[in-house]
Formats: sequence, C-alpha cells, structure tokens
Amino acid sequence: MDTGSASRRLFDLTGRVALVTGGNRGLGRAIALALADAGAAVAVLARDEAKNRETLDALRARDSRALALKTDLADRPQVANAFATVERELGPVEILVNNAGFAILKGVLEQTDEEWDQVLETNLTAAFRLSRMAARSMAARGRGGKIINVSSIAGNFGTPVFPSYAVSKGGMQQLTRCLAVELAPHNIQVNSLLPGWFTTDMTDWIRNWPEYAEALKEMIQRTPRGRFGEPDELAGAAVFLASRASDHMTGSDLVIDGGFSVR
Ligand SMILES: NC(=O)c1ccc[n+]([C@@H]2O[C@H](COP(=O)([O-])OP(=O)(O)OC[C@H]3O[C@@H](n4cnc5c(N)ncnc54)[C@H](OP(=O)(O)O)[C@@H]3O)[C@@H](O)[C@H]2O)c1
Repeated sequence: MDTGSASRRLFDLTGRVALVTGGNRGLGRAIALALADAGAAVAVLARDEAKNRETLDALRARDSRALALKTDLADRPQVANAFATVERELGPVEILVNNAGFAILKGVLEQTDEEWDQVLETNLTAAFRLSRMAARSMAARGRGGKIINVSSIAGNFGTPVFPSYAVSKGGMQQLTRCLAVELAPHNIQVNSLLPGWFTTDMTDWIRNWPEYAEALKEMIQRTPRGRFGEPDELAGAAVFLASRASDHMTGSDLVIDGGFSVR
C-alpha cells in the first residue's frame, strides 16, 4: 500500500466548500490559504475590501474556486446574505471556520454596554448564527460537515485586560460542545481551535506598545517554545479539523500555544 497517498487522501479537501470568517488577514488568512492548498473552494467574509481582494488573488493563484465578500459580522442581515451568496456561487458549505474576532482592551469597570454587545455579537453570536445556517444546510443534504470555532486560550482564564473578549471565547468553547452533541447524529463534527499568542494585528499592542513591555517579557518567559506562533503554524491544525482525518473527534479543544497553558 502507498501510505504516502493514503495519508494525503485523509487530508484531501478536493471538491469541498469552506467558508472562513475574518479570512482576509492574520490567522484566518493562513487558514483560508491552507484549506485552498488542500483542495477546497474557499469563501472569506470580512470588511476590508482591499485585504479581501488581495486574499482572493492569493486563493485564485492556488487554483481555488474562491470568493471574498465584504461583510460586517455584527450586521445580521449582511451575514445571512453573505451565507446565501456563498452557497449560490460556490455550492453548499461543508466546512465552516468561525474565525473572525476582536478584543477591546478595557476592564469591566470601564466597559460600556455598547462595547460589550459589539464584542459578543461579532465573536460569539455571529458564530452561533452561521453555525445554525451551515448546520441546517449540511443536515438537509445528509453528507455531514465540519465546524471549526477559533476560540482562544483566553477562554480558559480570568483576565482584567479584555474580559468581554475572554467571555466571548469561553462561550465559543461551550457553543462547540453543545453543537457537537446536537449535530453528531448528522455526522457533523464541531471542534474548537485555541491559539495562544500569535503574530497578527490582534497582538500588536503587547508586541509593540511600550507600556506592555513587561507583560511581553513575562509572556515569552512563560511560553516553553519561547516565542509567538506564526499564522502558518496554526493552519495545519485547521486542515486536520476540516478533513476526514478528524472524523472521530468532536466537541474538543485543540490548543496550539507553544506550551503556554501547561506551564
Ligand atoms: N493572534 C492571536 O494571538 C490570537 C490568539 C488567540 C485567539 N485568536 C483568535 O483568532 C482569530 C483571528 O485573530 P487574528 O489574530 O488573525 O486577528 P486579526 O489579525 O486582528 O484579524 C481579525 C480578522 O477578523 C475580521 N473581523 C473582525 N471584526 C469583524 C467584523 N465585525 N466583521 C467581519 N470581520 C471581522 C478582520 O477583518 P476586517 O477587519 O477586514 O473585517 C480580520 O480578518 C480571532 O477570533 C482571535 O480571537 C488570535
């Protein structure tokens, strides 16, 4: 038996349609490109049109059927329209990656209702609504599917720095568990990816702002691998969770943090 091609087939996504929220930069872009490299048609949903166009070009350069739709995940009608457009243009979504997210660096004492709502709507509620759209479509076709929720190790810790973000991420892990149980009879697997600290725009503050220099030093010292992760170092885990290789895995948290959480 040719074990090389057998294992390649396990991770092969040819003919599959993937939707990646926040797929135009950072971790989402790395995931979108890796899914395309594995053979999937890929749609990215995000707001910045220039970055959407640049990512679309990168996807098409990989021969992927691709789409990039300007979408604000905090705008419910826009999200529903975008999902319908993806299914019309590329076909039924079989892989959903709920990746888009942002943080507000404010403790509870300073946080406004509007800020709290904006974080929860974008990071958690949009993921719930898209999961429901995708799961209904997957269940109706009866061919199973994969949902990957990009949470964070911040979902496991208390923090005074970005509490609304941490709550949204803890909620995402619980969303994963509930969906995993409910959707298992439809052969839909749902798992969380928990990145630690990665080099993206989201971590600019701790990497570059002088007032966080001490926090940066402590963070690096605490990380057994001694550095930030690069976006490409998360992408393989997303391909695994999108592929047949993970068919018996559901409701799990896959931590990719250079060992930060186990110290
Ligand atoms: N980087 C890390 O160290 C780290 C660690 C743990 C978890 N994570 C998680 O990983 C995911 C990706 O983070 P990242 O580091 O790649 O962040 P990033 O570089 O800041 O990218 C965030 C992505 O989300 C999109 N986005 C944000 N708000 C949106 C909205 N309202 N509507 C549509 N798209 C929106 C952005 O696109 P537009 O701005 O164009 O809309 C962008 O594509 C997030 O869920 C984050 O919480 C990251």
